[in-house]
Amino acid sequence: MARKVVLATKNPHKVDEILAILGDIPGIEWLTFRDFPFPDVEEVGDTLEENAILKATGVARATGLPALAEDTGLEVEALGGAPGVLSSRFAGVEKDYRANNEKLLSLLRDEANRTARFRTVAVLALPDGRTWMTEGVLQGQIAEAPRGAGGFGYDPLFIPAGETRTLAEMAPEEKNEISHRRRALEAMRPILEELARGSLD
Ligand code: IMP
Repeated sequence: MARKVVLATKNPHKVDEILAILGDIPGIEWLTFRDFPFPDVEEVGDTLEENAILKATGVARATGLPALAEDTGLEVEALGGAPGVLSSRFAGVEKDYRANNEKLLSLLRDEANRTARFRTVAVLALPDGRTWMTEGVLQGQIAEAPRGAGGFGYDPLFIPAGETRTLAEMAPEEKNEISHRRRALEAMRPILEELARGSLD
């Protein structure tokens, strides 16, 4: 019988990307907020690591099932790593992507150093309290103006290293091929395969 794992996020963009990356693992049945309601977990941690642990352990405890969470931040070198863990509420309002992008561009006006990276921390938590953590990073540059309609969040402003297009100008499969999320989740794949085999019981 397939092992059920809950995706501990209510962000539909993240759900789509995570399922595109890990949806093919044999023996894992993914449950999302769409088919399995769970309570909101407040992201009160000071780091991506703390928030990913809070979300995964909170949902594993609430549902009695293994839960996979991830927390992602955009870290801009010229801003000392900001917005980082505050990426979703950079401009004050939770998940106002346009306001966040406008604030980022205005802080970087006349700034020559546009180096940035996305960092994703993924956590798998079991209901008994055991956790596994992985990380994925995507290096790049902040564009001068938003470009593209794909993706979400800061994608219209983020040009991966070696690319000329922003993440929002890429097809979803192209973003998923190289993304920070992909790297963190692929590192988690062997642990999920063990879970599916029953080796973590
Ligand atoms: P969180 O992991 O839900 O806290 O996400 C923080 C914020 O980072 C989101 O609200 C988005 O603005 C941004 N973000 C997360 N992942 C991505 C991504 O893959 N591309 C662009 N922005 C992202």
